[in-house]
Amino acid sequence: MHDTLLLFGATGDLAQRYLFPSLLHLLRDRLLPPSFRVVAIGRSEHDDEGFRSWLRERMDDGERRDNAALEDLLQRIVYHSIDLNDADAMAKALSHYADRPAVSYLSTPPDLFAPACLGLKAAGLLEDPSRLVLEKPIGHDLASARAINATLRASLDESRIFRIDHYLGKAPVQNLLALRFGNTLLEAVWERRWIESVDIVVAETAGVDGREGYYAGYGALRDMVQNHMLQLLALIAMEPPSTLDADSIRDEKRKVLRALRPMTAADAARDSVRGRYGDGVVDGTAVKGFRHESDVGTFVALRAWIDNWRWSGVPFRLVTGKRMPARATEVVVSFRPVSHWLFDRPSAERAPPNRMRMRLQPEETIELGLMGSLAAPEWGATELQPMSLDLTMSPTPKRRIAYERLMIDALKGDQTLFVRDDEVEAAWRWIDSVSDAWREAGVGTQPYPAGSWGPPAAAPFLPATLSGNGKRKG
Ligand code: BG6
Repeated sequence: MHDTLLLFGATGDLAQRYLFPSLLHLLRDRLLPPSFRVVAIGRSEHDDEGFRSWLRERMDDGERRDNAALEDLLQRIVYHSIDLNDADAMAKALSHYADRPAVSYLSTPPDLFAPACLGLKAAGLLEDPSRLVLEKPIGHDLASARAINATLRASLDESRIFRIDHYLGKAPVQNLLALRFGNTLLEAVWERRWIESVDIVVAETAGVDGREGYYAGYGALRDMVQNHMLQLLALIAMEPPSTLDADSIRDEKRKVLRALRPMTAADAARDSVRGRYGDGVVDGTAVKGFRHESDVGTFVALRAWIDNWRWSGVPFRLVTGKRMPARATEVVVSFRPVSHWLFDRPSAERAPPNRMRMRLQPEETIELGLMGSLAAPEWGATELQPMSLDLTMSPTPKRRIAYERLMIDALKGDQTLFVRDDEVEAAWRWIDSVSDAWREAGVGTQPYPAGSWGPPAAAPFLPATLSGNGKRKG
């Protein structure tokens, strides 16, 4: 396991909220090597002690006040303020950390990836077996992602490049693989003959606040669908890999992403809805709408089609939005109706289909919706009722920040939960088809009040499991 982490973007929001807290938890749980050290790099001017106090203030909440692990972490950190566009300055400041194999983590905007690579190379920090971790987004379209990947390849081999998608570090996302490939019962019905549709929803109550600059160039499609949601889709739809090694899994995910049917302008109006939140109320608090001169959306609903043997004709509905009434990340797999319905109560039309609902956030639950009858014999007719089989693990396993697992894997060199260059490019290819289709067909954003489930036109895309949503029509 490597013991040197160079963290670029150390004063950024992600580092404060997730990356340093993850390191803290890993140290506390003794999952890092005794010689572990962090070289924090940011734009703000601090000396080592100044950065430590700055970070201590941000991490020292009530829960951790007495935690010796925090002091332990802080004492392992040194800080450098460096301009990443200056390769010589990077080499000068950082080359002496190349004395041991290192992991350099770029939690920076993508336009800094190329210059940072040059500087790291000059500092000797990309020599084998050192590794490079990149935070999303990898570009903003296929062309820019290809350019980034080419730059990376010129500096180091793909086997040492770790592209983060933090959804892959979430335990319930890994559970998708366990459920699919650890159960005959599910694998037997996991195909178009038995599955009618799949819903993937990532609803957030949070708004864009504070990230307007970044968000205006991305919107919900590029910020959430290109990475997290397509990764979920790929895990749900992929063929069984022959082994669990990183490339076997990534080969199968790539195949799914490449089988996504490009959206055309003719399909855009039927298969997508774009939205942008206006003023409204979320969790009882009045919030302001997202205003920006561009037409960027904070909500998107899409119907994706996977053109392959297993999934032909099965819609995958992807819905994500900010300022929704509730935080909910879930996957709902709806099965086809029973082929010949025998019962009077309820009638075939009123019988809900079998459904598997996997909630990833805020709680981690799995429910299997079946039909059954507990009616007493004197009722004369058998009355079926929906029954929910709760498959939640008890006791619930300890929840960890998704980045904890990913940091450990990057330090150990396990790429299974990281995204390969060809996956990123396949995902962008489809996303580009969607944004091109929108442009050609003139599909604009429709307003929705903050605290609602998106524009009214999106109702047919929402699963019936979301509270407050009526039955889907199409
Ligand atoms: C990030 C997006 O990748 O994921 C954010 O940039 C989004 O806009 C976040 O809020 C959601 O992550 P999570 O783990 O809170 O669902």
